[in-house]
This record gives sequence, structure tokens and C-alpha cells, in this order.
Amino acid sequence: MAETLNILSEEKEGLLYLTVNRESKLNALNFATLEEIRNIFNEVVDNKEIKGVIITGSGEKAFIAGADISEIAELNELNARKFAENGQDVFGLIENCHKPVIAVVNGFALGGGCELAMACHMRVAAANAKFGQPEVNLGIIPGYGGTQRLTYLIGRGKANELMMTGDMIGAEEAKNLGLVNHVLATKDEAMNKAEEILKKIMTKAPLAIGMIVDCVNSVFIPEENGYQTEANSFARCVKSGDYKEGTSAFLEKRKPIFKGE
Ligand code: COA
Repeated sequence: MAETLNILSEEKEGLLYLTVNRESKLNALNFATLEEIRNIFNEVVDNKEIKGVIITGSGEKAFIAGADISEIAELNELNARKFAENGQDVFGLIENCHKPVIAVVNGFALGGGCELAMACHMRVAAANAKFGQPEVNLGIIPGYGGTQRLTYLIGRGKANELMMTGDMIGAEEAKNLGLVNHVLATKDEAMNKAEEILKKIMTKAPLAIGMIVDCVNSVFIPEENGYQTEANSFARCVKSGDYKEGTSAFLEKRKPIFKGE
């Protein structure tokens, strides 16, 4: 993995564990950290050893408490657009990654932290997790895709309420709204749950998992015909050795061994 200052990364049994490690700043995402995330995800795409990714924050208090406000405070109109587009681009790499990515959320997931969690394919939270888009308190709006992904995930009315009030919600409410997949009592238990999900996915056909990512994401691209994307992706799956293996294994009453090709 690329050398990183703000992200701890560890590969174990096919999973890549990424920990945003700026605990004294509640893991706030500065520009340098975003670039590290970009480099890591560019590498993950081609790394055959990595079958899934877990992203979490250092310490017990925060997942990520937002973009780094000391950098936000220096923006002007010109570079603000680039600032937002850069963050959107990096989070797009996470969302479009063909390996499953799960956010394990402990403590504060605010602003860019909530946006990063939403760019992941799933979110597993500890009971102390708190989600929110408090940018309005700073005179700005979410800029890393939050206005879009929050609306997709929880619907227009609730998304408006959260973004306009800047209120935080707890893990259980986030789960009831569809923002979070699972809530566990502690961060360790949330981590175990995320590992359990990823280990199950690792037994499935990797190409099919990548196609699911593309098809699900296409729902949110207005100019794309998602049904067409689905039919094309379905056809691509059928060209794979994994398709032959999966169907043969079923007929031969044995477990399939997928190779991702
Ligand atoms: N950017 C930069 N620094 C941040 C930060 C952020 N988004 N969030 C927290 N920090 C820093 C604080 O400035 C403080 O640093 P210091 O010790 O050098 O002063 C440190 O992290 C601890 O935060 P603190 O505010 O003292 O903790 P708290 O428990 O009193 O409050 C929060 C926690 C999350 C409620 C509060 O830090 C907060 O509101 N953060 C900003 C959230 C936000 O608006 N995010 C969206 C940004 S677009």
C-alpha cells in the first residue's frame, strides 16, 4: 500500500483495514488525508489480494468529525468548487470500488465523515455513533456528495431536516432511517459484524460483486438506463469462468470455488 501519514492500513486475510488516524482532531479529513484515501483506492482496484475494505476512525470518540474546518475557513469561491469536486471524486472511488467497502462507525460521523460513510457500500455502527450534516452551522452545505447520497438513503423530507437543522441523530435512529445497516453495542462488535459480512461476500463470485456495485450505483445516475446496465452486466457475468463454476457446482451438488475470472 502507498505510504500514508494520516491513515493506518493493515491487510489481513484478504481484508484491508483503513483507520483514519488524526485522533486529536477527531479524525477530521484534511486535504492530505483525502489524497491518501485516493491513492489507496486506486491501488485497491488492481490488488488481487484485497477482497474487501473496512474503514473506521481512530479512538472511541469519533469516526470522522468532518472535513478539516481549519482548511474550510481558508476557502474562496474559486477553490471552494475544486474543494467540493475533489472530495466528490475521492468518495466516488470508494462508491465505485468493485470490492465491498464497509464503514465501521464509532462516535461522531459528521459532515465529510457522514458523507464518507455514505459513499461506502454499507455502514455498521456502534451504539455510540452519531450522524449529522452540520455544515449549515458554518454557513455552508455538504460538498462531498452529502446532499445527494443522504437524500437517496433516507428520503427528501428527513434529508432536508437533517441538513437544514444541522441536528445529529443516534445510531438507532440512523438505522431506522436506512442510513445504517446494523447497530452493535460496541466498536469491537461492529468490527466483528463488518468482518462477518465481508467474509461471507468473499465466498461469492468477485466479478458478480463488482457488477452489483455498478448496477446499484447506476440507479443514482440519471442519464444512465439502469435496466440496460443490469442486462449488460448480466451478460458480462455469463462470460466468466465463475459463472461456469457456480452453475456446475450447483448441479454437481458441491460448493463452488470462485476465482474472480
Ligand atoms: N475540523 C477540524 N478540527 C476539528 C473538527 C473538524 N471538523 N472537529 C473537531 N476538531 C478538533 C477540535 O478543533 C479540537 O481540536 P483542539 O483540541 O486542537 O482544539 C479537537 O478536534 C477536539 O474537538 P472538540 O470540539 O474539543 O471536542 P468536543 O467533544 O467538545 O466536540 C464535536 C465534538 C464533534 C461536537 C465538535 O468537535 C464539532 O462540532 N466539530 C465540528 C463538526 C463539524 O461541523 N463538521 C462538519 C465540518 S464541514
